[in-house]
Amino acid sequence: MENNVIYGINGPVVTVKNATCFSMMEMVYVGEEKLVGEIIGIKDDFTTVQVYEETTGLKPGDPVVGTGAPMNVLLGPGIIDNIFDGIERPLKEIERESGSFIKRGSSVSSLDPNKKWNVTLKVRLGDKLNGGDIYATLPETPIIEHRLMVPPTINGTVVEIAPDGEYKIFDTIAKLRDENGDVHELTLCQKWPIRTPRPVKEKLPASVPLITGQRVMDTLFPVSKGGTAALPGGFGTGKTMAQHQLAKWCDADIIIYVGCGERGNEMSQVLDEFSELIDPKSNRPMTDRTVLIANTSNMPVAAREASIYTGVTLAEYYRDMGYHVAMMADSTSRWAEALREISGRLEEMPAEEGFPAYLPSRLSEFYERAGRADVLCGAEGSVTLIGAVSPQGSDFSEPVTQNTKRFTRCFWALDKSLAYARHYPAINWMDSYSEYFTDLDPWFEKNLGKDFIKYRNKISYLLQEESRLMEIVKLIGSDVLPDDQKLVIETCRVIRVGFLQQNSFHPEDTYVPLEKQKLMMKTILHLHKQSQKLIAKAIPISQIIGLGLFDKLTKMKYDIPNNRLDMFDEYIKEIDEKLNSIE
Ligand SMILES: Nc1ncnc2c1ncn2[C@@H]1O[C@H](COP(=O)(O)OP(=O)(O)O)[C@@H](O)[C@H]1O
Ligand SMILES: [Mg+2]
Repeated sequence: MENNVIYGINGPVVTVKNATCFSMMEMVYVGEEKLVGEIIGIKDDFTTVQVYEETTGLKPGDPVVGTGAPMNVLLGPGIIDNIFDGIERPLKEIERESGSFIKRGSSVSSLDPNKKWNVTLKVRLGDKLNGGDIYATLPETPIIEHRLMVPPTINGTVVEIAPDGEYKIFDTIAKLRDENGDVHELTLCQKWPIRTPRPVKEKLPASVPLITGQRVMDTLFPVSKGGTAALPGGFGTGKTMAQHQLAKWCDADIIIYVGCGERGNEMSQVLDEFSELIDPKSNRPMTDRTVLIANTSNMPVAAREASIYTGVTLAEYYRDMGYHVAMMADSTSRWAEALREISGRLEEMPAEEGFPAYLPSRLSEFYERAGRADVLCGAEGSVTLIGAVSPQGSDFSEPVTQNTKRFTRCFWALDKSLAYARHYPAINWMDSYSEYFTDLDPWFEKNLGKDFIKYRNKISYLLQEESRLMEIVKLIGSDVLPDDQKLVIETCRVIRVGFLQQNSFHPEDTYVPLEKQKLMMKTILHLHKQSQKLIAKAIPISQIIGLGLFDKLTKMKYDIPNNRLDMFDEYIKEIDEKLNSIE
C-alpha cells in the first residue's frame, strides 16, 4: 500500500494530501501511536480525518493507515455492566492498564478477549439460518441472557458446530455455508458500523407506554416504548436528575446511559448510585442491566460526536435480541457543540448560531433509530431515545432545542422558575406535550380502565383553567373570583403540590406505580367534584377548605405507601363524611 502521511493538523482534524485508497467514513489509524480516526471529507487533493483522541504531538509526515471498514463497534457479551468512552473503549480496563489518565492509541479491546462465557448452542447441523437468527445464548449478567445472532448480512446452513461449553468472544462456535459456498465463522461477537441503523423485520406502532413511575411523565406526557422524548432545560433545572430517575425506574430491560460532554463527577455518581441501587423487579444491582458511555467535558470532542451513535448501536443490538432498551443522552447540546467545533475546523459554511447546516439531518438520523419492532430473530424489541437538551439561558428558540423538537414526539420542557421554586420535576405542564396519546390510550384503557384517561383529561383541563384564572388574579387579585373559580385554584394547588411534584429522594415517592397514580387523581377529583356540589348550594369555600381535606391530599403521596392502595378507600370515605358534616 502506498504511504499516506499527515499534511496538516487543526485540533481534532487532520488532513492528508494526495491520499490513496481511503473511502468516506472509513476508520483509520493516525500517527505512530495509532490514534483512532474517521475519514470525514475527500475533496480535490485533500482527505480530512477526524481524530477521536488528543492530537497533541502528531506531526506532518506521520503515517495514516486505513482499516478498510467504516467506524464500527464490537458487539458481544461484556457490554453490560461496562463503562465505555465514545468509541467503545472500556474505561475501566484502560485505567487499569495506563493509570488514571487515558493513554492515547490504547489498543485495549472493547470487550474482554480472555473472559470465558458459558455458552449454550441453540442450532443443529444442517439448520438453515438467516441474518438475526439466534445460534447460541449465554448468561451475560445474572438477569440478562445474551443471545448471539447471525450478523444481519449473513445466511447459510450450519456445517460445523461446537459443543456447549466455555468460550471466549473470538472463539468460533459454529460455521455457516452460504449459497455461494462461502463459509462464515460465527464467534461470540460481531462488528457493526455505528452510523448505519441495524435492520429490523417490521416497525411496530407506538402502542405500549414506557412506564417511568414519574407521575407527570406517565399521566400527562407519556412516551411509548420505542418512542422519542426531548428533555430541554437550562442549567440546574433538573435534566440530569430526570435522566437518572428514568434510568433507575423505567420499565426497559436494558439502559444505555450516554454522558455526553457533562461533568465527570456526574458520571461517577451514576456509577456509584447504580451499583448501590437494587432493581426491585430482579433484586439485583442496576448495573446488571446498564451500560454507561462517558464522554465527559474533559475528553476529546470528536469522540463525543461519535458517542451517541455508539450508544444507539449498542441499544439496537440488544433490541435485536428481543429486549426493550432505553437510551438516555445527557446532553445532546454538548454533542451538537462537538459537531459545531469540528465543522468550524473544516471551515464549512456555518448556519444558525454557527452550527453546521446538517445539524437537523444529523438529529433526525439519530432519533429515527428509535422504534418498537419485530426484530429479525422473530421477537419484539424496542429502542426508546430520551435526549436532554441544554439551551443557553433556557432559551428554547435556539437551534438544538428547535430541531430536537421537530424530530421527537414527546417534549418535557423543564422550567427555570419551577426549579427555582423547588417544584421538581420542573416539567412545565403548559409548555410540554406528548404526541403519543392516540397510540397509547387503548393500552391505558385496557390496563387501567377508561377512568384513567378520563381523570388525566380532567386534570389537564383544570390546570389550563387555573392558568387562565391566574392571569386574572395577577391583574386584580383573587378576591374578585367567585367561589367555584377559587375552588379550581385550590384543587390545582393540590394537583401541583400533591401530584405533579414528586420527590426523587423519598423512598415511597421516587417511583409510583400507575395504579397509585390513578387513585391519586381519582381522590383529588372526587374532592373537587363533591366540593363543587357544596359551592353550588352556596356553602362558602372557606368553610370547605377549613376542613383540612385539601391539605391532607397534598401529602397522600407520602402518607399512602405504594403497597397500601386500599387506604385510598378510607380517604374517599373521610372526604364524604367531612363534607356531609357541613352540608
Ligand atoms: N426531581 C428532583 N427532586 C429533587 N431535587 C431535584 C430534582 N431535580 C433536580 N433537583 C435539584 O436540582 C439540582 C440540579 O439538577 P440537575 O439535574 O443537576 O440539573 P441540570 O442537569 O439540568 O443542570 C439537583 O442537584 C437537585 O438538588
Ligand atoms: Mg446536568
